[in-house]
Amino acid sequence: MEKLQNKTILITGANRGIGKSLVKAALAKGAGKIYATSRGIKNLPDFGDDRVVPLEFDITDNNQIEYIAAKASDTQVLINNAGVLNPGTVLEGDMEGKQKDMEVNYFATINMMRAFAPILEKNTPARMVNIVSIAAYSPLPFIAGYAASKAALFSATQAVRIELAKKGITVHSVSPGAIDTDMNKGSEWEMPAPDGIAEIILSEVENGVLDIIPDDMGKGMYNSWREAPSNLAQTFHDMYHGEE
Ligand SMILES: NC(=O)c1ccc[n+]([C@@H]2O[C@H](COP(=O)([O-])OP(=O)(O)OC[C@H]3O[C@@H](n4cnc5c(N)ncnc54)[C@H](OP(=O)(O)O)[C@@H]3O)[C@@H](O)[C@H]2O)c1
Repeated sequence: MEKLQNKTILITGANRGIGKSLVKAALAKGAGKIYATSRGIKNLPDFGDDRVVPLEFDITDNNQIEYIAAKASDTQVLINNAGVLNPGTVLEGDMEGKQKDMEVNYFATINMMRAFAPILEKNTPARMVNIVSIAAYSPLPFIAGYAASKAALFSATQAVRIELAKKGITVHSVSPGAIDTDMNKGSEWEMPAPDGIAEIILSEVENGVLDIIPDDMGKGMYNSWREAPSNLAQTFHDMYHGEE
């Protein structure tokens, strides 16, 4: 498979967490140019490398998608990383949060895929990398809206992979377990730091792995689900009802 060396890469949500780590990992892999986008350009760290091109970008704004697609029309690797998580169960919590999760994690990410598919096709061999979540496989009662939005994104990722298969574009899904970023602020779980995870993600992309699970927790959850989805459901049942 093609290496990332000298490639032009666009990463959304690059100002913190996994996105920021992906920028650093892409620099270390020898990327030629990295469009590091953030909805607040002032929030982007100084990566200290002029291969990084900072761009202000909110993925939920279709006008901005059009502008960014024109600006970054040499993109060869699109990394759809931006995402949000709003807590709430199916039966409780406000519906606004669930709509927001769907708006950002699913609909806006689909709009990104639509805008960039023709660009990637022009710049083949190309890749689309969607940061999903192991929540896509998991009945997580506390964050049910987030899990549903990631299940929807996982499904869209599998479908668009087939749609783009003959166009020189490889589509990857990335489904981490819990990683130590702001998204998990306040959690007492032991979690890996995003820098190491970003390095694994990009190495797996280079290795041509289509469905990437970059961490041990994610792998454990996936294996439990693969044995029988009810096994993983039991884990969350016990957690929800305080039986472990
Ligand atoms: N951390 C985990 O345990 C974990 C596990 C599995 C999957 N993931 C996924 O990994 C991705 C990165 O998450 P993270 O853990 O790094 O979380 P994070 O630290 O909360 O970062 C989320 C990033 O997404 C950006 N973002 C949110 N809404 C946006 C929008 N409308 N337009 C543009 N950017 C937007 C945020 O920008 P602002 O700073 O402007 O808010 C921020 O840069 C997400 O898709 C998340 O679902 C995370």
